[in-house]
Amino acid sequence: MKISSINDTTELSNKIRMPWLGYGTYKASGKELIEGVQFALSIGYRLIDTAEMYDNEEEIGKAIKKSGIPRNEIFITSKVWNTNQGYENTLKSFNNSLKRLNIDYLDLYLIHWPVSGKYIETWKALEKLYRDGKVRAIGVSNFLIHHLQNIMDKCEIVPMVNQIEFHPHLVQKDLLNFCKINKIQVEAWSPLMRGRINDIPEIVNIAKKYNKTPAQIVLRWDLQHEVVTIPKSVHKERIKENANIFDFELSEIDMKIIDGLDQNKRYGADPDDF
Ligand SMILES: NC(=O)c1ccc[n+]([C@@H]2O[C@H](COP(=O)([O-])OP(=O)(O)OC[C@H]3O[C@@H](n4cnc5c(N)ncnc54)[C@H](OP(=O)(O)O)[C@@H]3O)[C@@H](O)[C@H]2O)c1
Repeated sequence: MKISSINDTTELSNKIRMPWLGYGTYKASGKELIEGVQFALSIGYRLIDTAEMYDNEEEIGKAIKKSGIPRNEIFITSKVWNTNQGYENTLKSFNNSLKRLNIDYLDLYLIHWPVSGKYIETWKALEKLYRDGKVRAIGVSNFLIHHLQNIMDKCEIVPMVNQIEFHPHLVQKDLLNFCKINKIQVEAWSPLMRGRINDIPEIVNIAKKYNKTPAQIVLRWDLQHEVVTIPKSVHKERIKENANIFDFELSEIDMKIIDGLDQNKRYGADPDDF
């Protein structure tokens, strides 16, 4: 599949279309977040990723309103936080997110982490929200194969998305394959390893060859793996840089070189030990 424009989208298992590139917002707040979201939207980003835990949904709602872009042209994701899991609490969390975002539906709602003993009930709440038409797609985040399998065994709807830590030091090939087979769209969080990609000599070398930056190389590598990617920046030059990834293609050899950097190394928490 050739992804050649910021407007290109992937089709989820329920036929909903999701942009390949999104704007991450973890640890962003206040004026710089509002301006960041507005700038990202002005240059073509159409997916905004937030979570109740980020405590920034209100600002994102304001920025989206200010942008003047019709609601139905923007794909908004939020997530239910760990302490609010369980059936009733999740329904409440969802409504609170809508209120803070000042919108009347979400495009994608995710279970932020697989809280043991809770996530099945939480998923049943997401199934209800989906059936009630309050959210266009539902999914999970930080789910390993055994968590996904458990949902598939005990629930009715297969998650449409799994948002996971994914970057050159953590490729999780088996999880990627499992998701592909089951039509679960993978989405990368911390795609830039929070800036560490600039320190990987192999990526710096590939970047020179394509006249691109290390960030652009790694984000393009995501796309060529058919992984949705949501880099975060509050700086205009970087927001622009991170979107300038649609005019080149990594060769198969360079894709393999980046795949080969895998160390199965997490910079975030382990989903089995959170
Ligand atoms: N589901 C989950 O559990 C989970 C966990 C973590 C994150 N997420 C989501 O995924 C998004 C992205 O992950 P992330 O924020 O952890 O990390 P990231 O996108 O890998 O990296 C963000 C960091 O890299 C810097 N940066 C951005 N663009 C850059 C560039 N072109 N060159 C060099 N440095 C650059 C940013 O700084 P500046 O802002 O100063 O430019 C920021 O410090 C989050 O914002 C959030 O929406 C989800």
